[in-house]
Amino acid sequence: MIVVAIDGPAGSGKSTVADALATALGVPHVDSGAYYRAATLAVLRAEVDPTDVDAVTAVVGRVAIDRVDGRTLLDGEDVEDDIRGATVTANVSAVAAHPAVRDLLLVAQRSGIARDGGVVDGRDAATRIVPDADLKVWLDADVEERGRRRALQAGEPERLDHHIADLHRRDAADATQMVRADDAVVVNTTGLSLDHVVATVADLARTAAGGS
Ligand code: CDP
Ligand code: CDP
Repeated sequence: MIVVAIDGPAGSGKSTVADALATALGVPHVDSGAYYRAATLAVLRAEVDPTDVDAVTAVVGRVAIDRVDGRTLLDGEDVEDDIRGATVTANVSAVAAHPAVRDLLLVAQRSGIARDGGVVDGRDAATRIVPDADLKVWLDADVEERGRRRALQAGEPERLDHHIADLHRRDAADATQMVRADDAVVVNTTGLSLDHVVATVADLARTAAGGS
């Protein structure tokens, strides 16, 4: 059983790399950001101001968020598609900034890891969610390259400037919770193919697990 933490800014490739690595290692992929996205959807549905700490904490304290087979469930409803939209993305950093919300979601994010292991991706996976991980990786890339990836992902390469500006905003909004562990291996993915990054991180994981 192995536990790997992968952190880094938006568009650095965390979730794609974590997914491929989890499959290769035969352990679950724990997408910690999905919990913040589902909490944000609950807050928006309740028509609560994302900066109102008491109201936000009350909403998040009332809902159950689960991940089953790569899908995100909010009180049992599959909200995987809804949580990836622009409205949730624009509000998620404000919800995630509340320490009380982070405490509430930590238990759910950790559930199952002690039993099954996992590849956990996020902003504070290595420092907070699984501080005893066998391997900690910090993925990074220039903001221009991350913007290109996001624009391609959204199917709108002509809106590159919009996506770069969006990443600047989210990097700033996430700065407090985006913590690089002292013992993380830094992988700068600028100019590297996804296959190359996955192979590099898989090699690191094999070494951490005691393989060749
Ligand atoms: O994939 P992307 O980097 O765009 O975002 P995500 O991993 O789905 O995370 C969405 C948001 O949740 C981030 O922008 C952070 O505000 C928050 N988050 C966090 O605070 N801590 C984590 N461990 C994971 C996500
Ligand atoms: O989770 P995070 O926001 O860090 O990034 P992601 O959603 O996993 O990846 C952003 C996009 O960049 C995906 O479409 C990847 O296929 C692409 N990409 C990458 O992640 N790494 C590379 N070295 C090259 C492309």
